[in-house]
Amino acid sequence: MAAQPDACKTLDPRVLRRDFPIFTRTVHEKPLIYLDNAATSQRPQVVIDAITDYYRRYNANVHRAVHTLSHEASVAYEEAHKKAARFVNARSWREIVFTRNATEAINLVAYAWGLYNLQPGDEVLVTIMEHHSNLVPWQMLRELKKIQLTFLDVTDEGRLNLAELPKLLTRRTKLVGIIYASNVLGTINPVGEIIEEAKRVGAVTVIDAAQAAPHIPIDVQALNCDFLAVSGHKMLGPTGIGFLYGRRELLEAMHPFLHGGDMISTVTTESVTFNDLPWKFEAGTPNIAGGIGLGAAIEYLAALGLENVYAHEQKLLEYALDKLLQIDGLEIYGPKDIQDRLAVISFNLQGVHPHDVAGILDEAGIAIRSGHHCAQPLMKRLGMDNTARASFYIYNSEDDVDALVDALKTAQKLFT
Ligand code: ALA
Repeated sequence: MAAQPDACKTLDPRVLRRDFPIFTRTVHEKPLIYLDNAATSQRPQVVIDAITDYYRRYNANVHRAVHTLSHEASVAYEEAHKKAARFVNARSWREIVFTRNATEAINLVAYAWGLYNLQPGDEVLVTIMEHHSNLVPWQMLRELKKIQLTFLDVTDEGRLNLAELPKLLTRRTKLVGIIYASNVLGTINPVGEIIEEAKRVGAVTVIDAAQAAPHIPIDVQALNCDFLAVSGHKMLGPTGIGFLYGRRELLEAMHPFLHGGDMISTVTTESVTFNDLPWKFEAGTPNIAGGIGLGAAIEYLAALGLENVYAHEQKLLEYALDKLLQIDGLEIYGPKDIQDRLAVISFNLQGVHPHDVAGILDEAGIAIRSGHHCAQPLMKRLGMDNTARASFYIYNSEDDVDALVDALKTAQKLFT
């Protein structure tokens, strides 16, 4: 069943909110204001319906039986791969491998490409801005394969220091990993430019698009990347589902990641041959309901148009930065130019610990995140331990910003 959200008629957040059942609840007797979208988004009813519809009407395993239910489930699950392929403009849906999340997608590359293709002394270049998901897998390979890990630094404003790139890219650089948009600073990185440079030295490129994909249009052909990782739960989809885009020639040449059911073509006691793409990389019974739910989320976002999503968030970002900067003693991190950033705002309020800020905001029904945001090397580089972070999405409005500003002023009064 196709997701046909009422919301696709407009990007008025007050209308969109009606599609999200969670906004009927209160928190501490206040209407919920959800500003923790960089951690996970909320789900519209169409996504919840797509999941329950699968369980209620055609629950069956995929690719394993000729009966009607299995056929329907297989078609819907495959259709979800096609929606994901269109979402990132892949050449073929066979280049889309469903995983648990972006972290697993990057681990797939580390294990199935890195373990077999990297040799001692080879270099993997990542940025200091990475989420741990695009750092720790390469640290694992540093131990196992004795590779070197090199880092592209950031400027104090929180942009990648591109001037350093030429000297970091050497003939030993075999892989370049880049976060598309920072979950801490909101910085949108010039990944196309970096990929072009990486290609000059023949490096394979891995883009962590977990934070970017929900907010800006992505075109893997225009980017010319080799791999791109996406998480479903940050873009209105269910938890436990995401995907890896992989260039077909690379995926074809790679060994499987996990081994077992469904990823094989034939098995004897002596040998095994592997299934076609993408199933070669989807061992065992997959997250069928999650995949179908992700397909519905993609359809919902595609109906809104990612250009419209970005434009809405830019307006909100401009409004929020303007209001927040009027609060004395509030410091905001990341690029000043809003074109180059998402509506993710990390900040500190002088004299109030970020966890206390988050606690007081919670009393007002406002959800934000506080902490190191799973990007500890970036925090250290910028001299921060923790920040408070407000992150916005399609259902947030200027009213939410006003409520945030009021609650921050209350926190300030209480603590200073
Ligand atoms: N990566 C998620 C965040 O930034 C969990 O909060």
